[in-house]
Amino acid sequence: MRFPFHVSAVDPGSRARRGALDTPHGRIETPVFMAVGTRATVTGLTPADLHEVGAEVVLGNTYHLMLRPGPDLFRRVGGIHRFMGWNGPMLTDSGGYQIFSLSDDRVISERGARFRSYTNQQFHMLSPEASIAMQEAIGADIMMVLDVCVDARSDEATTRAAMQRTHRWALRSLAARTDTPQALFAIMQGGIFPDLRRESAAFLTDHPFDGFAIGGLAVGDTRAEREDVTHMAAELLPADRPRYLMGVGTPPDLLQAILAGVDMFDCILPTNLAWQGTAFTSTGRVKLIRASTKNEDRPLDAACACSTCKLYTRAYLHHLFRCGEPLGPRLLSLHNLHHYHALMAEARAAIAAGRYAAYARAKLEAIDRHEH
Ligand code: GUN
Ligand code: ZN
Repeated sequence: MRFPFHVSAVDPGSRARRGALDTPHGRIETPVFMAVGTRATVTGLTPADLHEVGAEVVLGNTYHLMLRPGPDLFRRVGGIHRFMGWNGPMLTDSGGYQIFSLSDDRVISERGARFRSYTNQQFHMLSPEASIAMQEAIGADIMMVLDVCVDARSDEATTRAAMQRTHRWALRSLAARTDTPQALFAIMQGGIFPDLRRESAAFLTDHPFDGFAIGGLAVGDTRAEREDVTHMAAELLPADRPRYLMGVGTPPDLLQAILAGVDMFDCILPTNLAWQGTAFTSTGRVKLIRASTKNEDRPLDAACACSTCKLYTRAYLHHLFRCGEPLGPRLLSLHNLHHYHALMAEARAAIAAGRYAAYARAKLEAIDRHEH
């Protein structure tokens, strides 16, 4: 392993665990939520903002960064940390998911994915080797293998073929990495098929990856399917390596996955919803565009300690969104990320105290009550 992962506590009432991953850019306390900074920026926020809201690690995307600004720029400036001014831990996704979700003009072969750039219409080849080379140029602390992600509604044969190719590509990624101080995580696929998930875990855990991700979820699966697969998948992964559930999810998804023993998450939800004017609060989601918030002379969430909730009213936030002022999405991004990070901090404290199962049950019931 390129850097150490320690589990410091396991919840007696569930598989939840408290841990820490020590990267060259600092410690990641787990369970952790990673803010998504696709283009070397969490849209609208500065690194100082990210520290303020409790961000421990930021995620970038190989697919976007290879197209713009490209590998040469990263080599010239010495990597993404210096480029974006964030000196904390970072992770880059490999591009597998973006090829699946963003490129309609793509051909995936054994060699890799050939796709058309959205920046200049030119064709690019993203192979497992090219993804590793790009991720080494970007220089994030954690790299992901290039995988083949398919829709969760795909049939078993399609899902199996994608999984088997993902396995071959994972070994090519492992062979392609050089001796940089970066960790490399494998990605389990297999869709909603338990036998395929078992096969994927058995194959990947036989090789010296620094961590294991659960991929292929939140791509057309139901919440129940996601929960079932997460529980069975997490159980198949080794206890001494971090477990990362990719692209998930809502606060209840996170609370559930932590029960299953997941350590790391990323999701665009808190930041994307902020840009659409929706806030996560301790009493459910609030849409700041709604006329009902126009005269609300009170904080967005009285139970929240973020700067948005300390300084501004719902009426003001509503006004900013009505006027299309960029401060609106910025203040909601700060709040939503603070909300997610505070949830993770609460979960970590509950695990350390040996009461996570009861904490999660109560929290899930409260969220359910507010949303129905
Ligand atoms: N983000 C969300 N799901 C996935 C996945 O299956 N693979 C990758 N690479 N990224 C993801
Ligand atoms: Zn707040």
